Amino acid sequence: MKKIALAGALIGLGLLVACQPAAQKAEAQKPKKKLSKYEKFKIAFYQNQDKWQKYCSNEAQLVPQGISIEEFKKAMLATIKFPPGGKVMGDWKRGEKLFGDPKKGGRSRRGNCYACHCGDPQIIACGNIGPSLRGYGKKGVDPKQTYMRIYNSWAFVPCSAMPRLGYWGVLKPEEIADIVAFLHSPESPINK
Ligand code: HEC
Repeated sequence: MKKIALAGALIGLGLLVACQPAAQKAEAQKPKKKLSKYEKFKIAFYQNQDKWQKYCSNEAQLVPQGISIEEFKKAMLATIKFPPGGKVMGDWKRGEKLFGDPKKGGRSRRGNCYACHCGDPQIIACGNIGPSLRGYGKKGVDPKQTYMRIYNSWAFVPCSAMPRLGYWGVLKPEEIADIVAFLHSPESPINK
């Protein structure tokens, strides 16, 4: 009886050893688990940070570390490109759509300015992460400054929550000029 049990155990062990590489092979051939949208986002967010985002990713959060603020701003300023002919004010009506006016049918998610700013006083669903831009055109800001701010906010406020819309190519220079017109034009609802 003992002998049979021993033989059985040995055969079992032999089978186990023999099957091991086959099992490993099967494991390797299994299709890789598909990444969820969120997992892909996490990879893009944490691993594909640009050098400048890395300066901002620290416990101080809103202050770049490992570089002086002046040096940081200077480098960000140098990235700003202007539309042909240097025309920083375009068509305010096109700008209104890009700003992301949900009421008037603008479906742009690229500007998405209302997520963080108020603008047209008729639009009351607006965020307050950034300052209100109602009446912005009456403040006497140079439109070129406004253009540069939208192109790359970090040239003014390093590590700001405001996305670097021109820098990342989310908005084209001409599109930023349209938004500048929406902010500055006396006919724009922002300034009514
Ligand atoms: C995720 C939030 C967010 C989004 C989206 C956003 N901004 Fe901002 N914005 C901010 C914050 C925060 C500030 C203040 C800090 C700074 O200046 O960067 C700001 C500042 C500004 C200023 C300067 C205002 C002042 O009086 O000093 C302007 C102009 C501006 N944003 C325009 C825009 C426009 C136009 C859009 C859309 C194309 C936009 N922002 C999208 C968060 C945002």
